[in-house]
Amino acid sequence: MGFKGRDVLSILDFNREDLETLFKVADDIKANPFKYSEELKGAVLATAFFEPSTRTRLSFQTAILRLGGSYIDLGEIERSSIAKGENIADTVKMLDSYVDIIVIRHRIEGTAKFAAEIAESPVINAGDGRKHHPTQAMIDLYSIHTFKGGIDGLNVAVMGDLKYGRAATSLILGLTLFKPKALYLISPPELRIRPEVMEYLKQAKVNFIETSKLEDCISELDVLYVTRIQKERFPDPAEYEKVRGSYRITLETLKEAKDDLIILHPLPKVGEIDLKVDKTKHAKYFEQAALGVPVRMALLKLITRG
Ligand code: NCD
Repeated sequence: MGFKGRDVLSILDFNREDLETLFKVADDIKANPFKYSEELKGAVLATAFFEPSTRTRLSFQTAILRLGGSYIDLGEIERSSIAKGENIADTVKMLDSYVDIIVIRHRIEGTAKFAAEIAESPVINAGDGRKHHPTQAMIDLYSIHTFKGGIDGLNVAVMGDLKYGRAATSLILGLTLFKPKALYLISPPELRIRPEVMEYLKQAKVNFIETSKLEDCISELDVLYVTRIQKERFPDPAEYEKVRGSYRITLETLKEAKDDLIILHPLPKVGEIDLKVDKTKHAKYFEQAALGVPVRMALLKLITRG
C-alpha cells in the first residue's frame, strides 16, 4: 500500500509489509539519527490535542524537529477559538491551510476520520476516544520486534482495560497482522474486549484466550502489555469503583515469569505496576516510550517523502 500522502486513522489501514517498512526506517533512524536531520526541512506539523497527552504530543513534536521541520500546537482548548464555540471542522480547515500534517486527539470516536475528510493534508489519529490509537500500536509492535527480534511465535498478553483502552485495542488489532503463538486477553470480567474486536479476532483466526487471572498464563508469556483502567471513559462512576485497583503487577506476581519476559505499558501508569518492578530487567516501558520518537520520525518521513 505504501505510506505517501496517507492518513493514519487505524492500525488496520496498514498491512504487515507496511509495518515492516516502518520498522526498517525506524531502525535506520535509531542507528543514524543525524542522517535524517534535514529530511523534512521546511515542513510544518500541527498538534491539536483536545484530550490530555504527554508522550504522544511531545514525541510527535520532537520527531518533526529532529527531521528538520517545525510544529504549531493548538494549545489549551480554553485559549483557542473552540472556547468561543468554533466547530472542529472550521478549526481543521484552518490548520490544513497552515501546515503539511495534522496530528489530532479527541475524546469523540471518529474525530480523526472526520478531520481527514475535511483536510487535504494527511491526518494522524493520536487517539479518538476508546477506539483507535494507531501510532501507539506501531510503537508497541516495534518495541516487541526490537526487544524480541520479531513478533511471530510469541505468547503475548494484553492486560487491563480492554473495553475502554484504545492503546490496548489498537495493539490487539495490530497483532492480527502478525502471527503470535497465543494472545492472552487478561481483564476483570467487566472490562473485556468489545464485541467488534472479538469478531475481528475470530475472523483473523488469532489464537486468543480471555481470562481474568494473570496467574493462569504468566509462566508462558514472552510479552506482558499492561494498561491503566481508563477512569475517564466510564459512563457510570459506580462501574469504575467495581474494578478500581483490581490488578497490580508486583515482584511476587513475576516469580513464575520467564527470565526474558518483557513488560510493556503505553503509559501513563497509575499504580497497576509496583514501582519495584521498574527496576527489574523485565520492565521495558520507558525504553518503549523512547522508541516513540524514531517510530514517529519514520512515519512522518514515509507519509511526506515515501
Ligand atoms: C494512552 C492513551 O492516551 O490512549 N497513552 C498514550 O498515548 N501513550 C494510554 C492511556 O491513556 O492510558
